[in-house]
Amino acid sequence: MAGIVPSRTSDPVEAASLVADRGAAILVGCGTSEADARGVATRVWHDQVVAVPDPAAVREGGDQDRKKYAFHERLDLHSDGFAYGDKAPDVMALACVQDGSVGGESFLADGYALLEHMDRGLRSFLLDVPVDQTEPGAHETISPIVLTLPSGRRAVRQPLYAQPAPGTDSPERDGLQIARWKDLTAELSASVPRFRLAPGEVLLADNYRVLHGRDPYQGERFLWRVWAWTTAGNGTPTGPLHSDSRYAFTQA
Ligand SMILES: [Fe+2]
Repeated sequence: MAGIVPSRTSDPVEAASLVADRGAAILVGCGTSEADARGVATRVWHDQVVAVPDPAAVREGGDQDRKKYAFHERLDLHSDGFAYGDKAPDVMALACVQDGSVGGESFLADGYALLEHMDRGLRSFLLDVPVDQTEPGAHETISPIVLTLPSGRRAVRQPLYAQPAPGTDSPERDGLQIARWKDLTAELSASVPRFRLAPGEVLLADNYRVLHGRDPYQGERFLWRVWAWTTAGNGTPTGPLHSDSRYAFTQA
């Protein structure tokens, strides 16, 4: 129900429309250089793009990025850019340069569909109760896991870090609901449909609507990740930006 298998297109205009309608799309026939990756957000979203920083090289452990994920483990459904807190990038692109020899399939879930169909207790917790989502060393973020923008657009998030906010009147309840949300997305990570990105294909996703993950893999796998902030997002963070969290930390 919540799984998304993105449609493929070679037309950037159609890709933008697919992302708007369904949350994700795959743009095919793309170049695989860093410059190609950097240009993809502007090709798709044009003047809606407010900021598109340098791409980040995604391989085992990332390039310059901290080693949070192991290639031999499944990377469960999550949202990107949580070190930027409430100003996380609202769209993202993953440009495949080299797929692994085995595994590494991608999977997506529609956060808006999840929100619609989950039980009311969890839904109101995610929408209303502030949670401490601060990544150690990054700027403090205390806000509901599902952020509602002034425009009404929602950002459904699954950050790596979440704990009851200091001063909450019910840390036990908050801890249980945080764990339920984590469990729900972990279970979905095992069951949503898979798809495989080939070299020259770029996965485009609405990072406020769609959670993404990937299967374990073997062999060389290399993608460019591009985070972008558009006029439909929650504003751009202050300071320099990159397509990883290197500038989001108060102490680098
Ligand atoms: Fe990610």
